[in-house]
Amino acid sequence: MPLSAESLTKQFIRESKNANCFSAVDDVSLRLEEGTVTVLTGRSGGGKTTVLNMMSGLLAPTKGRVLLDDSDIYSLADKELSRLRNRRFGVIPQGQTAIHSLNVMQNIMLPYTLYNERADEDTLKRAEELLERLDIAGLSASKPAELSGGELRRMAIARAVIKKPDFIFADEPTGDLDDENTKTVFEFLRSAADEGAAVLIVTHEECAAAYADRVMKMASGKIV
Ligand SMILES: Nc1ncnc2c1ncn2[C@@H]1O[C@H](COP(=O)(O)OP(=O)(O)OP(=O)(O)O)[C@@H](O)[C@H]1O
Ligand SMILES: [Mg+2]
Repeated sequence: MPLSAESLTKQFIRESKNANCFSAVDDVSLRLEEGTVTVLTGRSGGGKTTVLNMMSGLLAPTKGRVLLDDSDIYSLADKELSRLRNRRFGVIPQGQTAIHSLNVMQNIMLPYTLYNERADEDTLKRAEELLERLDIAGLSASKPAELSGGELRRMAIARAVIKKPDFIFADEPTGDLDDENTKTVFEFLRSAADEGAAVLIVTHEECAAAYADRVMKMASGKIV
C-alpha cells in the first residue's frame, strides 16, 4: 500500500510587510510506493524537511491529507498515530536525536523499549548486523557523546530501520559523511527499498540520483 500526500500545504507565522504568514509548502502531492526510492532535492529553505515531516506523521498540514490504507493519518488520535509511526515508519531526522544517557545499542533499540516490547533473539541479531553494515559495530557500548557526527548519523539510521518499517524517511542522511560512508548509506537505503520498503530521501547529494527510482525538486514550497 502506498503512502499518498494529497495537496499538502503548510503555513507558518512570519511577520513581514505584506502578510503575517507564509506557505513553506504549497499544494504538494507525492506518492511513496513500496519497493521504490524517491529523492527530493532543492535549495535550502525550499520546504523539503517540512514535506518529510508532514508525510512521516510529525507535523500536521495546514491543508491537505496524508493517506495510508485509504485513511488520513492525521485523523488518528495522537496515541494511535504514535503507535502507527512506531510500527510502520522509520525517520532519520535532519538534526541529532541521540539520547545521551543511553549507549549506542540502547539508542538503536529505543523503538522497542518505548513500548515495553521485548526484542527477541532475531531482533538483537539484526541490530548487530545493522551496526556491522553501517560500519559502527565497535561502538555498540559507547555513549553518544563519544561518537563523531557521522557515527551518530549512522546510529540514527540503524534506529530508524530496526523494526523493518514499511516507510523510511531520511532527511539529509549523509549530511556528516565522507564519500565512502555516503555510498554505504545510499546503498543501504536502496537495499531496504529492494526488500520492499518505500523510501523518501531528502538530500543535496547529486550522486543520490543513481540510487533513486524518481528524483523530484522543490523550490519555494512547490515541486518544480
Ligand atoms: N516551525 C517553523 N516555524 C516557522 N517557519 C518554519 C518552521 N519550519 C520551517 N520553517 C520555514 O519554512 C521554510 C522551509 O523550511 P524547510 O526546513 O522545510 O526547508 P528545507 O528545504 O528542508 O531546507 P534545508 O535544505 O536547509 O534543510 C524555511 O523558510 C523555514 O525557515
Ligand atoms: Mg531540511
